[in-house]
Amino acid sequence: MSPRAFYLTTPIYYVNGPPHLGSAGTTMMADAMCRYRRLAGDRVYFLTGTDEHGDHVAQAAAKAGQSPQALADHISALFREEWRRLGITNDDFIRTTEPRHKAVVQAILQRLWDKGEIYFGEYGGLYCYGCERFYTDREVVDGKCPDHQTPLAFIKEKNYFFRMSQYQDRLVRHIEAHPDFIQPERYRNEVLGFLREPLQDLSISRPTSRLTWGIPLPFDDAYVTYVWFDALLNYVSALGYPDDERYKTFWPETIHLIGKDILKPHGVYWPCMLWAADLPLYRGLRVHGFWSVEGRKMSKSLGNVVGAWTMAEKYGPEPVRYFVLREMPFGLDADFSEEALVGRLNADLANDLGNLVSRATTLLVNLRHGAVPAPGPGLHGPVREALARCRREVDEAMAEFAYHRALGAIWELIGVVNRYVDAEAPWALAKDPASAGRLDGVLHALAEALRALGILLDPFLPEAAARIRAALSSPAPALADLEGGGLPGGTRVEKLTGLFPRVAPPGDTAPTGDQARVGSVKGRPAGPAGRGTAGGAEAAGTPRREEAPAPVAADAPAAERIPIDAFARVDLRVAEVVAAEKVARSKKLLKLTVRVGEETRTLVAGVAEQYDPAALVGRKVVIVANLVAATLMGIESNGMVLAASHEGTVSLLTLDRDVPSGARVK
Ligand code: MSP
Repeated sequence: MSPRAFYLTTPIYYVNGPPHLGSAGTTMMADAMCRYRRLAGDRVYFLTGTDEHGDHVAQAAAKAGQSPQALADHISALFREEWRRLGITNDDFIRTTEPRHKAVVQAILQRLWDKGEIYFGEYGGLYCYGCERFYTDREVVDGKCPDHQTPLAFIKEKNYFFRMSQYQDRLVRHIEAHPDFIQPERYRNEVLGFLREPLQDLSISRPTSRLTWGIPLPFDDAYVTYVWFDALLNYVSALGYPDDERYKTFWPETIHLIGKDILKPHGVYWPCMLWAADLPLYRGLRVHGFWSVEGRKMSKSLGNVVGAWTMAEKYGPEPVRYFVLREMPFGLDADFSEEALVGRLNADLANDLGNLVSRATTLLVNLRHGAVPAPGPGLHGPVREALARCRREVDEAMAEFAYHRALGAIWELIGVVNRYVDAEAPWALAKDPASAGRLDGVLHALAEALRALGILLDPFLPEAAARIRAALSSPAPALADLEGGGLPGGTRVEKLTGLFPRVAPPGDTAPTGDQARVGSVKGRPAGPAGRGTAGGAEAAGTPRREEAPAPVAADAPAAERIPIDAFARVDLRVAEVVAAEKVARSKKLLKLTVRVGEETRTLVAGVAEQYDPAALVGRKVVIVANLVAATLMGIESNGMVLAASHEGTVSLLTLDRDVPSGARVK
């Protein structure tokens, strides 16, 4: 059977600013998927690039006192360099200012013009320069752009229009008949939602009197192409449409990976453009959520833009990649903080994975002189079962782009094997000559588990996986190798220690629990979780600059000591936020709907100033579940969310690994 073709694209990034965690996150997700599909034996083509025309870029260049081309050259090179340093394995990098791209845009525009898919008309409407599009009255919020919150300009001008409206019904039918076309489901519903309103024709030109930085229309050089009409075509121009072998092989075996901000152009304009140009539709759109930083939208004006490489320089590229893939449930928003990154690094990478690799290779070297024992009667039951389950779950998760679930399954396996080592105690077996056979079986199972990790981890932690394989003299990986014989007896093993060294939390030099404490986010006393308990864990949330212990925070409760049974009366539970919204007329309060095991409850939390409601959905928090209900702003609150607070910084307590909602916290 010839390998399946798989073409994956990222959005092409605007060159109005350097790469950051958001663009790097998408690119790392795409890279992990491509590596996974290569491991599965597919023929993969992976495209990324930069989107270099349009108002965005022209304005950024004017601000920087540069020509748009000079800015584009500079920023595009930064993206390429960042992806190289982060180990991204893209096959091509397209720039929309390249002749190969411009030629395709012009050829397709000409074709649509010749076919009567484009007409010349006049349009007046509210326009956002940031989004480079007109907004309908329904979409406008208080006269402002719903995205940028900036005033919209009323613009009336003659332009060329693409007859997009005629495709409305066909698009609805297509989406309904192909549930896989847009996923996750919420985004499919969102696009179907847009399509319940009448679809307008799309203005696809800008007069050169207003914007010159674009591709001229081939049939009227007084106009340049609207940036989305130019940008979306990168997905075919990069393949050498229409004659190149790459186009013939990979189109339309295509998945576009995008952030939720650009759902409409990809889910509505692009399919209509493809139909108009007589090209087959791509196979699927996969849409991920947005990264916030410490609960706030990442933005230049807030000065909280996180660079993936800045973090990678501090902690290594693999921990950053792991964090991004592990922490974001696909389709939902997620939050970045350095503390959480360090938490994952220390708990998952250094402790769980690093320790397993270190103890397994050390045992093999010390107890069997670095040679894997012969398989004997076969793989020990618990390891065999855990491996089979993990393989199945990783496959299922990756089919849905659920990176976090795939990693969860791999960490389940790591947990099983770590517990297996503890239970079998090979160091004790080694003391008893009668147990030599059993010891061989255990060591063989450990070597096999490591071999499997060297394969399974490859898409997510390529460098660590390669080091594990090298320690086991194991060849280039393929998922198919997970089946079958495995390592022959006698295979050489080397010790591999310090795969991921532990790092100090960013707030290590900061104060202890005296200044940062766990409390309710409604500002109630922290109760039993006063300063003693808050200690180290909470200090992680405190900024570095605090070197010397400061006085006790004014609202810290007196640290009355309590017996353990007093604490045991507090029922702390893991709760998953399923909906969040601002409480009307309140600056501080959010209404949260949470799931606690099977039960759904409403509670009110005072975190509206620190957390965007959308960013909380899907997150797991810790609540006090057995409080007497309280009514706040007319809403009955059944529980209290825990958070640490320090000098105005509020940080919700979350979990550093996934456990089901309803789980008890003690
Ligand atoms: N140039 C257009 C895309 C054209 S595709 C034919 C564009 N560029 S962009 O530079 O603004 O990049 C948008 C993409 O960057 C998002 O869809 C997402 O992939 C990524 N992200 C930017 N900020 C992000 C977050 N804060 N969080 C997650 N991803 C984010 O739109």
